[in-house]
Amino acid sequence: MDVLEAILTRNAQGKLELPAPDKSALDKAFSCALRAPDHQVLRPWRYLVIQGEGLKRLAELYVSASIAVEPDISSEKIEKLRKMPLRAPMIVVAITAYKADPKVPREEQLLSSGAGIQNFILALHGLGFTSMWRTGPLTENPGVKKGLGLADNEHISGFVYVGTPHSDAKKIVHPPLADFVSDWK
Ligand SMILES: Cc1cc2nc3c(=O)[nH]c(=O)nc-3n(C[C@H](O)[C@H](O)[C@H](O)COP(=O)(O)O)c2cc1C
Repeated sequence: MDVLEAILTRNAQGKLELPAPDKSALDKAFSCALRAPDHQVLRPWRYLVIQGEGLKRLAELYVSASIAVEPDISSEKIEKLRKMPLRAPMIVVAITAYKADPKVPREEQLLSSGAGIQNFILALHGLGFTSMWRTGPLTENPGVKKGLGLADNEHISGFVYVGTPHSDAKKIVHPPLADFVSDWK
């Protein structure tokens, strides 16, 4: 698949199943992530791959970390948290690792990290896999950050769910370009 086709046909799917990418496919996708534009070549990112039993441990981490910040959390919410990581056979936690640099503010490092995630999900699509970039309050939860081993300078920029869809792809909408693009007069 060429790069334009990959960009125009990529589609997020909420429910993903096996197969997930093997080590060789994953290495290719991470190599693409690491080619993101990157001011001063700070490489302000790292990735954690979670699959198999790790997804169940992640679910338990979600539960304990959520109870810690919301002691009277409802049992419905707990059940929802427990099911969350099981929506795909693999989750890649995309971490922005901010570096101290006089020329590159955090905003630029976050943009670079986001570009890396986009490269990653496009590469996965080109390799025949589907993904969904998710965030939400768990990215900021102190217990989740600690349990995943984040340092003080690190931020979760995405839980990227990865696998293979077993339902039809969503219809892709292409909004009118003129709504977003104009000549400067
Ligand atoms: C930074 C970021 C965070 C996102 N977080 C969520 C999320 O928590 N839940 C969700 O349903 N979609 C989230 N999305 C959107 C989906 O990944 C996806 O882009 C959206 O469903 C549209 O589908 P498409 O990418 O196939 O156009 C997020 C996207 C970005 C860029």
